[in-house]
Amino acid sequence: MSTKNTPRIYYFSGTGNTYWSAKKMAERLGDAEVFPISREIRLPKLHIEADAAVFMFPAYAYGVPVMVRCFLEKAEIHADYLAALVSYGTSPGGALAEVRRVLGRKNLPLHYAGRIPAVENFIPIFGVQKAEVQARRLAMQAEATEQAAGAISSRTNNNVLSFRPFSSLVSALFRFARPRMVHLFRRTGACTACGLCARICPAGAITMTPEGPVFQNACENCQACLNFCPCRAINFGRMKPDTGRYHHPEVSAVALFDLNGK
Ligand SMILES: Cc1cc2nc3c(=O)[nH]c(=O)nc-3n(C[C@H](O)[C@H](O)[C@H](O)COP(=O)(O)O)c2cc1C
Ligand code: SF4
Ligand code: SF4
Repeated sequence: MSTKNTPRIYYFSGTGNTYWSAKKMAERLGDAEVFPISREIRLPKLHIEADAAVFMFPAYAYGVPVMVRCFLEKAEIHADYLAALVSYGTSPGGALAEVRRVLGRKNLPLHYAGRIPAVENFIPIFGVQKAEVQARRLAMQAEATEQAAGAISSRTNNNVLSFRPFSSLVSALFRFARPRMVHLFRRTGACTACGLCARICPAGAITMTPEGPVFQNACENCQACLNFCPCRAINFGRMKPDTGRYHHPEVSAVALFDLNGK
């Protein structure tokens, strides 16, 4: 049962990197509860009452995913200790600064901000990282998750700059472009209309038709559908047909269905 003294972990994840770290964090903190932001955001009232609240999310264009930002803006938060952890492929830019600013506008502090290196998942742009790079980054992810768990467990405080003008600009451009990019997702003739993409989509942005998925503007660009499709039947933009796919090797599509509350 949830009590004020139970730490709460709120996460958003497309391809499982953040989900993996959130689960590890919960194990390490012992009595922590884990909540998918994609499900919580649909509640009519968002009320967080906890000894400690930890927000975990991937970096998107040097900022936070739009859904995570909305969640932080909307939630009524009563917690003695607040932490944010960003999972990223190359550089998280000002993602943590963005969280600090959003919380700051609500007169809330950010006690601890941490970075968790992970495998890059924006494969239509960057391609799939080589096996040895993935192995190295998976090890870095495990180590950084462990370190962050230790810091949060002992209620460590650190500081993060809130002034990151270049990142703020890139993040704002991404927020503007995001709903306009949905038409770049295309299903190919390989689609069997199995429905997995619609179930895994954390934004509820896929409508199933007998022919296959139709993508809606609510898309967060998380890349889950493209990477988990068992037929590799989803493409994005000018992605080459032989481009590989990635998701965290220890996170299955079934585990992520949880995200949608389906
Ligand atoms: C739309 C989009 C934008 C991204 N932007 C960044 C970025 O600015 N910096 C970065 O280091 N990684 C970026 N990434 C990579 C992800 O942050 C990284 O792979 C993360 O671990 C994915 O987490 P997930 O598997 O929980 O979704 C981006 C990925 C996507 C899909
Ligand atoms: S997961 Fe792939 S095969 Fe299944 S409906 Fe979606 S696009 Fe089609
Ligand atoms: S449509 Fe695909 S990329 Fe967009 S939010 Fe849903 S799963 Fe993610």
